[in-house]
Amino acid sequence: MKKTAIAHANIALVKYWGKRENSLNLPAVGSISMTLKDLFSKTSVEFREDLESDIFILNGKRAKAEQEHRMSQFLDLIRQQSGDSTHAEVVSENNFPTGAGLASSASGFAALAVAATEAMELHYSARELSQLARQGSGSAARSIFGGFVEMKRGEKLDGSDVYAIQLKDERYWQLDMLILITAEQEKEIGSTEGMTLTARTSPYYPSWVASSFTDLSEMRKAITEKDFQKLGEIAEFSCLKLHGLALSAKPGLLYWNGLTVNLVHQIRALRKKGVPAFFTIDAGPQVKVLCPPEYTQKIKATLQEFDGIKKILHTTVGPAARIVED
Ligand code: DP6
Repeated sequence: MKKTAIAHANIALVKYWGKRENSLNLPAVGSISMTLKDLFSKTSVEFREDLESDIFILNGKRAKAEQEHRMSQFLDLIRQQSGDSTHAEVVSENNFPTGAGLASSASGFAALAVAATEAMELHYSARELSQLARQGSGSAARSIFGGFVEMKRGEKLDGSDVYAIQLKDERYWQLDMLILITAEQEKEIGSTEGMTLTARTSPYYPSWVASSFTDLSEMRKAITEKDFQKLGEIAEFSCLKLHGLALSAKPGLLYWNGLTVNLVHQIRALRKKGVPAFFTIDAGPQVKVLCPPEYTQKIKATLQEFDGIKKILHTTVGPAARIVED
């Protein structure tokens, strides 16, 4: 059977970086994200008796061998759970640049989890989908839900308490996000490799893990109280802490380019002038700006003046992953 799903990208406001267990992909820290309305992956999965192996078409082209392998390993989990060994053709499209620190693995694995389980007629709950998606990519566990989402670190070794939950749905609080694309090429060191290196080599890693609990509880409170200033402060803190940590790996990981740094200064300068704007940055050079919607146009107009920005995407809080008509 063939099924198609859409899942939206998400951006972490409190960041995930590091694993407490590799084979089940259990995170060392919890995280909190915002699902994005206008950035999504659309994925079709068709299990076909005539196929001898899985085929993965990504953005109109046969995917690279390593991407196809990762996708196929993920389908193996579903085949194990269903007891059906049929192979599949997977066709996936992202409506935003892939692999440049814009969370394409999050929306990609979430859409794949939803489409593949439905195509296998497994009919999973959102929690089960989140646990499954996590095994493709940690951040994908959050893209199952819309709105503001928390990924639990959990304590158990079998992963049964490691899943995302929705804190608030997408109608709760309209926050805008501007995504400033500073470079379009794929990043050199992906998140999985980067976080593994960091956990192994950074002297700051234990403090990163220990200090995450406070960030999570403060962020939950900021969301409950709709306190934008607090939300922005904690988001910037978690982002800079992540990049400080990554820099302290051996060899150090620097995901930013010169423009990333300039934009950080620019956003802080805007804030000094009374404009409520905060930044967050993932494992790539793009800068994401959080702001209340009434300030978006002003911020966009100011930042557009800046030389070198390739593109500015404008989005807001978005919905959960779902099955769609083909
Ligand atoms: C910086 O979810 O891509 O975007 O679990 O190894 O696939 P894996 O990692 P991934 O890491 C995301 C890292 C981040 C922060 C975040 O989204 O929380």
